Amino acid sequence: MKEIFIPGRAIIREIVQENKQIKTFRLELLDKTQSFTFRPGQFLMLSIPHCGEAAISISSPPTALPLIDLSIRKAGVLTSAIHRMHSGDEVGLRGPFGTAFPVGNFPGHDLLFIAGGIGLAPLKSVLDYCLFQQEVEDDTVQRITLLYGSRTVADIAFQKAIEKWKNQGVDCRLTVDVGDPDWSGSVGLVTELLHPDIITPQTISLVCGPPIMIRFVIAKLLDLGQSETAILTTLERHMKCGMGLCGHCHLDGKLVCVDGPVFTYAELKLMNIMEFS
Ligand SMILES: Cc1cc2nc3c(=O)[nH]c(=O)nc-3n(C[C@H](O)[C@H](O)[C@H](O)COP(=O)(O)OP(=O)(O)OC[C@H]3O[C@@H](n4cnc5c(N)ncnc54)[C@H](O)[C@@H]3O)c2cc1C
Ligand code: FES
Repeated sequence: MKEIFIPGRAIIREIVQENKQIKTFRLELLDKTQSFTFRPGQFLMLSIPHCGEAAISISSPPTALPLIDLSIRKAGVLTSAIHRMHSGDEVGLRGPFGTAFPVGNFPGHDLLFIAGGIGLAPLKSVLDYCLFQQEVEDDTVQRITLLYGSRTVADIAFQKAIEKWKNQGVDCRLTVDVGDPDWSGSVGLVTELLHPDIITPQTISLVCGPPIMIRFVIAKLLDLGQSETAILTTLERHMKCGMGLCGHCHLDGKLVCVDGPVFTYAELKLMNIMEFS
């Protein structure tokens, strides 16, 4: 039993500074005897000795294995500790855990990604996975649109990925809450980018970001006629075991670590969740 709580050792191969608060850590598991795979949307429990453990979404697609990206915002003890680490340092990883985005249902649909801040991390895994599928298969998603909101221009993260996605035909629309003289793009909340022409009957929306953003984005999507089952989002709760054993992430009859973190809005609506009520 105890083995499932012992993390595997992973080495930091590369660090990308995404903005002042967010870094992407490119990791590789050291134990090559254990096969490792995951699905976009799943998370890992990241640990550093004496600093604890935290749930972190995998931000790279499974197609990038054996490399695994974790995009981490400095928030507290553990995340500040990893921000002080360098290439070649070691961390612990357990997982993967949780539900994934249903990428098998995406072919034939338009995908609308709506993210705020670090919320782009789990969606990045899905987006890169879908673009990879587009390259290798005919029966793939139709139109891909990304709406991405940041507080200020300096807060815009994942700029390298966004440039790459634009070159791959993704319609990327960025907005900042507070503009500056050098910014010629949109200023305002991400909900203001949600125009009726963006939603088609084939659209599946994937929403990830701060709870308040998720709440207003979902309300707008419903106004625009998006069905409750075609809105996918993720819930964040503090986690301990990550695998349905400790009850720490309990929420109205669900354990977010095993029943989520990915939920449809139709599922969320049935739960008594403070941030969405
Ligand atoms: C499924 C999932 C995926 C996630 N993916 C990512 C990701 O990709 N990138 C990323 O940067 N973060 C992600 N997070 C969030 C991350 O797990 C948390 O921010 C985590 O708390 C950071 O650990 P820490 O030790 O650095 O911070 P902590 O020391 O845990 O502090 C972080 C904040 O949480 C508060 N806090 C601490 N303990 C509790 C508690 N028991 N109850 C309520 N509040 C508390 C603190 O006051 C502080 O404001 C994810 C969380 C979940 C559940
Ligand atoms: S974190 Fe232990 S049950 Fe979810």
